[in-house]
Amino acid sequence: MSHNAIESTLQENRTFPPRPASEFGFPKWHVDSLDEYKSLHARSVQDPEDFWRDEAKRLDWFRPFDSVLEWHSPDAKWFVGGTLNACYNCVDRHVQNGHGEEPAIIWEGEPLGPRTSHAAAGSNYAREPEVRVLSYRELQREVSRFGNVLKSLGVKKGDVVTIYMPMVPELAIAMLACARIGAAHSVIFGGFAPSAISERVMDAKCRVIVTADGGFRRGDVVKLQENVEEAINHLANHGHIVNHVVVLRRTGHVPPSQRFADGFHQGSTTWHWWQDQMARASEACPCAEMDSEDMLFLLYTSGSTGKPKGILHTTAGYLAFVQMTARLTFNLIPDSGQLFWCSADIGWVTGHSYVLYGILMNRIPTLMYEGAPNFPTLEGGKGDRFWDIIARHRVTHFYTAPTAIRTFMKWGDDLPARHDMSSLKVLGTVGEPINPEAWIWYHKVIGRERCPIVDTYWQTETGGHIGTPLPGAIPTKPGSCTLPMLGIDAAIVNEQGQELGPNQGGLFVIRKPWPGMLRGVYGNRERFISNYWGRVKDARTGQPCYFSADGARRDSDGYFWIQGRIDDVIKVSGHLLGTMEVESALVSHPAVAEAAVVGVPHEIKGNSICAFVTLRPHWLISHKREPDQSLKNELIAHVAHEVGALAKPDQIRFAEGLPKTRSGKIMRRLLRDVASGVEKITQDTTTLEDFSVVAKLRADEE
Ligand code: WT7
Repeated sequence: MSHNAIESTLQENRTFPPRPASEFGFPKWHVDSLDEYKSLHARSVQDPEDFWRDEAKRLDWFRPFDSVLEWHSPDAKWFVGGTLNACYNCVDRHVQNGHGEEPAIIWEGEPLGPRTSHAAAGSNYAREPEVRVLSYRELQREVSRFGNVLKSLGVKKGDVVTIYMPMVPELAIAMLACARIGAAHSVIFGGFAPSAISERVMDAKCRVIVTADGGFRRGDVVKLQENVEEAINHLANHGHIVNHVVVLRRTGHVPPSQRFADGFHQGSTTWHWWQDQMARASEACPCAEMDSEDMLFLLYTSGSTGKPKGILHTTAGYLAFVQMTARLTFNLIPDSGQLFWCSADIGWVTGHSYVLYGILMNRIPTLMYEGAPNFPTLEGGKGDRFWDIIARHRVTHFYTAPTAIRTFMKWGDDLPARHDMSSLKVLGTVGEPINPEAWIWYHKVIGRERCPIVDTYWQTETGGHIGTPLPGAIPTKPGSCTLPMLGIDAAIVNEQGQELGPNQGGLFVIRKPWPGMLRGVYGNRERFISNYWGRVKDARTGQPCYFSADGARRDSDGYFWIQGRIDDVIKVSGHLLGTMEVESALVSHPAVAEAAVVGVPHEIKGNSICAFVTLRPHWLISHKREPDQSLKNELIAHVAHEVGALAKPDQIRFAEGLPKTRSGKIMRRLLRDVASGVEKITQDTTTLEDFSVVAKLRADEE
């Protein structure tokens, strides 16, 4: 749990009322008052079938559904008997309805072109970025072609396709192409390392991977193709064959003489170039008719134990939930000049739901940016690229993470002040609790004290927002995600499932099914049940509740204050990491005997990773090594290589032994206290920590 967040939220009681829709040029807010929200919410949880039947009418169906919900806890079937297609709902129907020429995706690459004498209008940069605009018609054409490419590689309805790409339009095209032909996508964030790729590919029994030669990030090239090659070799050693890899040429960093030729075979894998395949592909590709409950995608997320979990989302429920949450949370209105920018990578659920599906379904153009906020890099490593993008494109909705906001805050108020951000109307935050200081900064400096801030609480598993202010209806309090989304029956309960009174800390649960909920953990029924449904039963009904693994409280206004995870996962810069994933990476290094990883409060990242490590004396002796800074650096690099740079420990601390309870459980609470302790341990300390005394003293505590 992030302790600093709890402390600051406890003192926070400022309230910001909603402002009139007219101030933002909106005819009205979709939900216009607190009373309206309350009555809608009451109806949505008292008569969910009636409520969701209406919502589902906003989707285009090939065949209407027969019933709204079949619920055999914990298995939900939504919109039973209906058939539809996700790509049709995001793209084709807009073309059909005469909106084919409107922008769907507005993309900006990271690199800046050669210096020009005339900068782009409104830009403070002397060099122009690469910008591409894809209309719905163009998107439909590209997606159809790529659908045919996938089919030609043998991809069929129900198959899983792994996508490991930078933030380029082709990533969205690849996902929508999967949806179009009825394959499920499994997107892996481009920051993950080869072993993380192979783990996910193997778990999803994937035979086709779509990637790029590389992506641009902070002026560097991320070598995606090389990572895929390494993953494929690793998979081959484990008997898993990847049949086809499609590579988009983006960075061109591999010299032409060393590039493979389209159709090149290596082992049992055939390599293809995206561009060559697309040039040959036909534009006629019908949208597959999918059942409501057919799988739309898998998205892997970290758990407290074992390997990452493949969170399974199905078609109709996910679409219905995401189109509604996007529309209401951000007050989306087509034809009103809105431009939505969610800065999350599509490799996370935020990108799935609010870069792609939720935004396109509502026929709002979505902006994608390939790179880092500090490219070009200004003095002191700062950057103002985001503000430049907002100003140049006239972004109306900006959605980002608290960790980014804290970084911008540190970079200073003068950077945003250089740009005209008067186009902004609604600001969003997501991924971890936002500290009130950062909220207020966002409100004042970016929102000019006028844009509503929606602090959206949700998870990969929930598909979309489950707690958030609705901007025209719910007064906001800095640090609170306020009230439950329509259709979400949320409560704070104790271990016995009894609802707790105001300001009592407890477990965040959802007591009724909702359409966007996960339908399973891919290939692991047991984990699905034990992780989410096995812990809490509603004391009133005896029914299992969905438990989010977050601790939270509700204040006397019924507002939720999320305190953070109570399982062994850590939120680092808004990214979820299992302590176990980092520990396994550490112990796979021959120098390491044992490792324990804990989160330590960090002012920018929310939490940072501290790893306590015991070493193998024999290895040290035989390799003539010392427990010194160079070994620490080596271990940090090893974790980056095994999991990805996002998992790098900030601190490695060598210990004689790890403190354990009599039953052998590592005393994480003690380690957290030590790691965040007042006595500041300098980076290069090489003293071994001796936990034997404390461990004996506190052996019975946990
Ligand atoms: C965990 C889920 C939500 C999409 C991106 C992350 C934390 C998320 C908030 C928020 C407080 C938040 C929770 C949750 N979290 N949003 N607004 N306030 N905490 O998805 O990687 O599945 O992480 O993120 O701890 O359980 P995820």
